[in-house]
Amino acid sequence: MAQEKDNNVLSSASDAQRPVPEHIGIIMDGNGRWAKKRGMPRKFGHKRGAKVFEDIAEYCDKIGVKYLTVYAFSTENWSRPKDEVSALMKLFKDYLTTTEGKGKNIRIKFIGDMSALDEELQQLIVNMEAETASRKGLTVFLAINYGGRDEIVRAARQLAKEAAAGTLDPEKIDSAMFESKLYTAGAPDPDFILRPSGEKRLSNFMLWQASYSEFIYMDTLWPDFTPELLEEAIAEFNKRSRRYGKVEEQ
Ligand code: FPP
Repeated sequence: MAQEKDNNVLSSASDAQRPVPEHIGIIMDGNGRWAKKRGMPRKFGHKRGAKVFEDIAEYCDKIGVKYLTVYAFSTENWSRPKDEVSALMKLFKDYLTTTEGKGKNIRIKFIGDMSALDEELQQLIVNMEAETASRKGLTVFLAINYGGRDEIVRAARQLAKEAAAGTLDPEKIDSAMFESKLYTAGAPDPDFILRPSGEKRLSNFMLWQASYSEFIYMDTLWPDFTPELLEEAIAEFNKRSRRYGKVEEQ
């Protein structure tokens, strides 16, 4: 039933005439509350959330969004109950081994510190990145064991190493060089960052890249999110006036 509704939105909204953002960031929040409301374990919400992620990625590709970054597991999420962490890792493996995520035009790149993941998961990630690398549609940055501070520290460490080795003049370090060391190097910054579920925080997501992003908060829990709601977020974004530190007339 929900699927039927999504498909209708897909065909009508994709014909709509409106500017489409190049890069959308999403903090997929509210899975636990969604499950709790149904008397189910939290992992049930994550499972539904994973399906919604696939639908939203497909929709973004369809309407011409170039980049979608989704926060699937943060550097802080390891401190959740063990069975929830295991359930999330299993979900990632299921996603990486089903054909559903693959037979499309979408390029998948993982961002975060993959070295902390188990070897099987790391190998599946390498395989999926390789299999989808030449795709020309949407690029999904899937953030797993990702933290914005961690990403910045990692970039600083790399530059420091080069400076210490004498291959880099510290005076030459500028924003563009710093940006080139981030996981998202080469991609534009997110036009807007969307957080469903009513929470209004960045939670260590894309700290560097979010400098000029618009923030859009919605009350819907992520497992109830739909392409229709994404269209509402895009419409809200298109109403915002982005000045990048300048004034309206410039
Ligand atoms: C935050 O909601 C959500 C997470 C920590 C996990 C997000 C993961 C998914 C949506 C699955 C992604 C899967 C794939 C295959 C990419 P919460 O659990 O903190 O919710 P709550 O605030 O209601 O407790």
